[in-house]
Amino acid sequence: IGNWIEVCEMDDIDEEDVIRFDYGDRTFAVYRSADSEYYATDGYCTHGKFHLANGLVMGNMIECPKHNGRFDYTSGAAKRAPVCVALKTYQVKIENDKVYIQIE
Ligand code: FES
Repeated sequence: IGNWIEVCEMDDIDEEDVIRFDYGDRTFAVYRSADSEYYATDGYCTHGKFHLANGLVMGNMIECPKHNGRFDYTSGAAKRAPVCVALKTYQVKIENDKVYIQIE
């Protein structure tokens, strides 16, 4: 059980896109899929300290901007080398048109 933290308005993230969200000394990536489902993962790639929010969203994949590794952002699973360690994912909820993530 963690705290629900407000990230942004629903419309602050375009469909099939991702934003960076910093909270304290942590950084997250918050995604909106083509069918307007919302997801959240750690902000840094597990291969290097590069912000995934600078990468490319394709379907349910995020491609890291540095070495083009891919993760499924809905599960965190590593999907294309050189990434091999899964991303941590976070629960997301929508309330009053705002996006919240649950962090420990
Ligand atoms: Fe992300 Fe290398 S830093 S694939």
